[in-house]
Amino acid sequence: MARILTGIQATGKPHLGNILGAILPAIKLSQNPENESFLFIADLHSMTSVKDPATLKENTRAVAAAWLACGFDTEKNYFYRQSKLASYHTELMWYLNCLTPFPMLANAHSFKDKSDKLSDVNAGLFTYPVLQAADIVLYKANLVPVGKDQKQHLEMSKDIAAAFNRTYAEVLVLPESLIDETVMTIPGTDGQKMSKSYNNYIDIFEPEKILYKSIKKIVTDDTPLEDPKNPDTCNVFTLYKLLAKKEQVAEMRKSYLAGNYGYGHAKKALLDVILEKFSKERELFYYFMENSDALEMKLAEGEAKAEIVAKQTMSEVRIALGFD
Ligand code: TRP
Repeated sequence: MARILTGIQATGKPHLGNILGAILPAIKLSQNPENESFLFIADLHSMTSVKDPATLKENTRAVAAAWLACGFDTEKNYFYRQSKLASYHTELMWYLNCLTPFPMLANAHSFKDKSDKLSDVNAGLFTYPVLQAADIVLYKANLVPVGKDQKQHLEMSKDIAAAFNRTYAEVLVLPESLIDETVMTIPGTDGQKMSKSYNNYIDIFEPEKILYKSIKKIVTDDTPLEDPKNPDTCNVFTLYKLLAKKEQVAEMRKSYLAGNYGYGHAKKALLDVILEKFSKERELFYYFMENSDALEMKLAEGEAKAEIVAKQTMSEVRIALGFD
């Protein structure tokens, strides 16, 4: 049985790229009866950049609602906010801080990158990887599915956990990263990788009208309506292919090649397939956004379950440190 753990930054409402690239693959992994998944909202990490409590809260709510709407099973798994277990995460982080070499943090790509770009270069940004290591080892996770950008953070987590075991006692499990190289990048409306920061995203949780508006923004070439078109270089077709059934995709390909089929037609078909494919998810998302009590209850249940695991690890850690 593998114990899988992932933290999600509370950056706001997930878009189609997040859903196809991260949320659905993680949910699929969690559905394997051999696995047990810990999924948490890394709102303590988000504090390194988000300083407005209302924004952080709203972002957290939207991220949680999206994961629930997409079908993450909170009965089988663990679903929680990092901040609600902050005392465990940050206490362990301190112990790990004292085992983390300064140059390791100073040389981290992500830190160097952020400290070059941001005006607010705080200590939280610097020790970010140590909190991440604490997040993982606190629950003795074996596998951590992350994007390529997190590879170095995961190597650091493993090194820090190994330093603890070497220095004190074999208490912690050394985590391995799980980086799925086959996950394709989802193109945004301008053809670049779909991302909040490029403002090229499609938000499937918007009302139909606004959703359609964002689909209409997808950039296409100016081949006249009558002419045949190349589906393989078209962003609308690429997105359609990711969502529609095989027959529907074959049908659209034929229409592109035949001519007299415009990008407007393809965009309408893309809208329809999104509305159809995500109808349950859209409904559930609205439900959780409108019923904060229901959302709060799901999270509180997850936090109570997670706390049992965190408490157990911390008791072993404290014994190893001589603090029992
Ligand atoms: N740093 C991760 C990111 O930006 C988020 C994160 C925080 C995380 N703690 C984690 C990911 C623990 C995996 C495991 O995406």
